[in-house]
Amino acid sequence: MIHGGAGTLDNVKDQKTAVRYLESLRRVLEHGREVMQLGGSALQAVEACASLLEDDPLFNAGYGSVLNEDGKVEMDAAIMDGRDVSAGAVAAIDAIANPIQLARLVLSESEHVMLIGEGALRFADHCGMPRALETYFYTPERIEQLKQAKRKHKLMLDHDDAEEDSEDQKYGTIGAIARDPQGNLAAATSTGGIVNKRIGRVGDSPLVGAGVYADNETCAASATGYGEDFMRTVISKTISDFIYMKEMNANQATKAGIDYLIRKVKGRGGLIVIDKHGNCASGFTTKKMIHGWIEQGGVTNVRF
Ligand code: GLY
Repeated sequence: MIHGGAGTLDNVKDQKTAVRYLESLRRVLEHGREVMQLGGSALQAVEACASLLEDDPLFNAGYGSVLNEDGKVEMDAAIMDGRDVSAGAVAAIDAIANPIQLARLVLSESEHVMLIGEGALRFADHCGMPRALETYFYTPERIEQLKQAKRKHKLMLDHDDAEEDSEDQKYGTIGAIARDPQGNLAAATSTGGIVNKRIGRVGDSPLVGAGVYADNETCAASATGYGEDFMRTVISKTISDFIYMKEMNANQATKAGIDYLIRKVKGRGGLIVIDKHGNCASGFTTKKMIHGWIEQGGVTNVRF
């Protein structure tokens, strides 16, 4: 399963833009399935899918990341392996084209779970990961979006149009979760965060239990939305706990998680979840969420 943002998505109501989003999701899902058909693990599949989404300027992550109050990117990403609940995360980084790949290196090549800012970049150098030019991230859309946000003196969430009110906002972030034929679960989440955010602001995406979670005994989950809401409710781990403690399936646990998110913090956004049996579920408090899923031998499903 993958997601690419939640909201009213009025900015994709024209047919051509909608098709671009859906085609991109379809391509990413089919690639993820191919990775596993060729023997790749769930972890490899989610890293591959998240990398493709980071490369697509339609989405708020990697290349398409939104800009902070200083007009710079500060990206967050995390990846988690349900086999042993190992995790790797990076926060508040720039200069890396695929933050999810750096998060994966933190998981596999470091003794830590999270590295931030300059330390994360130094670790990237140590691992031989090339740095991207600063100009790589400055797409004309993102520059214009920041200008609009500054004119309005406000924070904007991901790809939104500043002229629209908060109800019309779209909450970006990308995510991928998978269950492989061996029954292993994995999750990956990556984001540029919020337009015009304060320097040093970190959202839910790189936080284990908030924007990302995977445990073979319960589920894999990835969130998209207003990070502060997900951090306060530790929403991905809460859903995992519903499965573990209340013996719910993905659908029941996601529904219970969304109810909790609304009741506690009037949370804005959504999640995708695959449980240990392979049941897929999604839930969101916004009008829509861009997401899709694919199964071995099944058709590709993409929708808003
Ligand atoms: N969910 C992404 C963020 O709030 O940064």
